[in-house]
Amino acid sequence: MTVAHITGAARGIGKSIALRLARDGHDVAVSDLAVMAAELEATRKEIEAIGVRAVALHGDVSDPESVRRLVAETAGQLGSLDVMVANAGIAQTKALLEVGPDEYDKVHAVNGRGVFLCYTEAARQMIAQGTGGKILGAGSIASHKGFALLGVYCSSKFAVRALTQAAAQEWAPHGITVNAYCPGIVATTMWEEIDHDLGEINGVETGESMKEMAAGISLGRVSTGEDVAKLVSFLAGPDSDYMTGQSVLVDGGMIFA
Ligand SMILES: NC(=O)c1ccc[n+]([C@@H]2O[C@H](COP(=O)([O-])OP(=O)(O)OC[C@H]3O[C@@H](n4cnc5c(N)ncnc54)[C@H](O)[C@@H]3O)[C@@H](O)[C@H]2O)c1
Repeated sequence: MTVAHITGAARGIGKSIALRLARDGHDVAVSDLAVMAAELEATRKEIEAIGVRAVALHGDVSDPESVRRLVAETAGQLGSLDVMVANAGIAQTKALLEVGPDEYDKVHAVNGRGVFLCYTEAARQMIAQGTGGKILGAGSIASHKGFALLGVYCSSKFAVRALTQAAAQEWAPHGITVNAYCPGIVATTMWEEIDHDLGEINGVETGESMKEMAAGISLGRVSTGEDVAKLVSFLAGPDSDYMTGQSVLVDGGMIFA
């Protein structure tokens, strides 16, 4: 039995990934900010109902001590850490000329430093275990293309792609693969926020920005969390053993890399 940890799993894509990895047979640790305790506990219960072991942990991925504790408690309570999914992330929808330095740092603290901390702490644990592992990060279509009004967010998601490529090369000798999943437009709270903020900036109704972006999706619909979880299931399992350093698009056909 392998053990997976998913950050930012109280809701959205992280929750879909946690439930899918549980159905795949992994024991699962889910984590999120302490303010999300009630939603996280609901996720934990749903995982347990699938029939695997489940623990819920609170922690902020931008904080080194938090991430150290999340990894140590996962291994302590479930016996090992074999799959780390650095999923937690935050959005920011703002013209570059309006972004202050602190706002820039806030996004990078979670999306860039958070992924760096989760990757490195997971790798330390996996190297100590000596049994290899799978490390995954949340990229985005924004890891492959810079979008207007999402510039800082995009720069933080490009960082995920770079970290994924470097980590894959550094940790291959330890039997660890490192890949990122890159969704397009997924109907979650994050996209509701982006849609709302784009609407305010561009003076259009709520829902219109999402509709406009969705019109460019070849497969004709926005994504569900489950669409993303299917790719993560593959990247977390043995069928992807010969794949590392990749940032794989799962966007219904928006960006063609
Ligand atoms: N929704 C999309 O369209 C989309 C597209 C591409 C990539 N992504 C990425 O997928 C990931 C999940 O996005 P989502 O749409 O489910 O977002 P969401 O906002 O619905 O969920 C994100 C979760 O992360 C948690 N979180 C935020 N900051 C945290 C921190 N510092 N420490 C720990 N947890 C934290 C939140 O509490 C929340 O539960 C993010 O990295 C996001 O950038 C989302």
